[in-house]
Amino acid sequence: ELHRIPHPPHRVPLLGDVLGADRHRPLQDSMRFARALGPIYRRRAFGKEFVFVWGARLAADLADESRFAKHVGLGVANLRPVAGDGLFTAYNHEPNWQLAHDVLAPGFSREAMAGYHGMMLAVAGRLTDHWDRRQAAGHTVDVPGDMTRLTLETIARTGFGHDFGSFERDRPHPFVTAMVGTLTYAQRLNSVPGPLAPLLLRAAARRNAADMDHLNRTVDGLVAARRRSGGGEGDLLDRMLATAHPVTGEKLSAENVRKQVITFLVAGHETTSGALSFALYYLARHPEIAARARAEVDRVWGDTPLPGYEQVAKLRYVRRVLDESLRLWPTAPAFAREARQDTVLAGDHPMLRGAWALVLTPMLHREPEVWGEDAERFDPDRFTAAAVRARPPHTFKPFGTGARACIGRQFALHEATLVLGLLLRRYELRLDPGYRLTVAERLTLMPEGLRLRLERRPVPP
Ligand code: HEM
Repeated sequence: ELHRIPHPPHRVPLLGDVLGADRHRPLQDSMRFARALGPIYRRRAFGKEFVFVWGARLAADLADESRFAKHVGLGVANLRPVAGDGLFTAYNHEPNWQLAHDVLAPGFSREAMAGYHGMMLAVAGRLTDHWDRRQAAGHTVDVPGDMTRLTLETIARTGFGHDFGSFERDRPHPFVTAMVGTLTYAQRLNSVPGPLAPLLLRAAARRNAADMDHLNRTVDGLVAARRRSGGGEGDLLDRMLATAHPVTGEKLSAENVRKQVITFLVAGHETTSGALSFALYYLARHPEIAARARAEVDRVWGDTPLPGYEQVAKLRYVRRVLDESLRLWPTAPAFAREARQDTVLAGDHPMLRGAWALVLTPMLHREPEVWGEDAERFDPDRFTAAAVRARPPHTFKPFGTGARACIGRQFALHEATLVLGLLLRRYELRLDPGYRLTVAERLTLMPEGLRLRLERRPVPP
């Protein structure tokens, strides 16, 4: 039934629809095709057919957990050598998924989050110290670089009691460089025919092996230190090492712990860093929105030097700014769904068991029937409680869907809202008027080359 799904007009044998594609920006390339071909379309690459979906009705049907489930494909599958059967890359049928999910879920409960709050504040303080110094010296700040420092330190501290010293380094920590290397490599693997990959990407594959080695060694060092010290403060690593499954009594194996630590260090910071960076871009681009958000922070936090856990949840408008940024640029920009059994998608497209489609979230989030003809416009008021209630379900999916949706959602939202609040309270954000948003891709999205000039505001000590 594929013939009923539109595809690009000019096809090349073997290469299919990849010619003319921008292999450094595959997601934005897919967005272009989406605009030209409509809510469901297919692209051919290396003899395989890929189906892309972004229409609201189709995406909502794919969210039906009784008929569809996560598919580990493309970018996610390419990360298997790095993250194995860790939570993010595990196949649905792998027993370690349920085991790790049940053991780690309490690490994301409300109580656990409240416990991380003080550590998140401490890391944010390192960021503002750094930004104060840059500001005083008359320098601009490197937004994606510094947001990555912040989010890496946050997950390392709260999850693993570890300090990478990111703010004390001029260049990214080697862990970050290795991580970016593996993400970029996983993305590149999609742009060459599988069997030819070893040949075409020989040098890149060698670098990738070195990167993976670095990630493994970092993680092994971190785990060994914890085993020596005999336990942290009940953080994620303690859970991974010591907690038995509440029903079966089973524990994670040493090999699986390694995969989980890598998974959480990477998944726990890369996407949040992008989300914060896009939000700061939009705040700097729209001073009237920043002013409204800042007024809320001043009102809700008053002159409390350090906001409490509950005071973060009260920043409703700041949270809407974040949601709206994740609408336009969901930093993990796609997820794949497969049919659990033979079924018909949205009453229209027959799918055999195991057949799958990729949901293009940035396009779903711009679907004109849901978001209006002005969907490209940045407007946080799309996320007032009334506006959210008025929209059909499953139309905003930056954290994926169903059983395999993001386990770190509340963690990311709390951290990002807290940090945006602190930065809005402390600085006016000035963007070079000549800056044009360009989005870099390494499976995740990031505003490229974004720098801001800061002005200090009078704030509590
Ligand atoms: C899964 C997005 C932050 C850990 C996912 C998925 C998405 C996503 C879309 C589903 C992927 C799929 O269906 O294939 C995001 C975004 C974040 C964020 C946009 C920040 C704004 C975090 C944080 C953590 C985390 C802070 C950890 C502390 C994970 C894990 C999974 C996951 C472990 C796999 C869950 C499972 O399959 O059981 N995330 N994430 N993420 N995320 Fe996040």
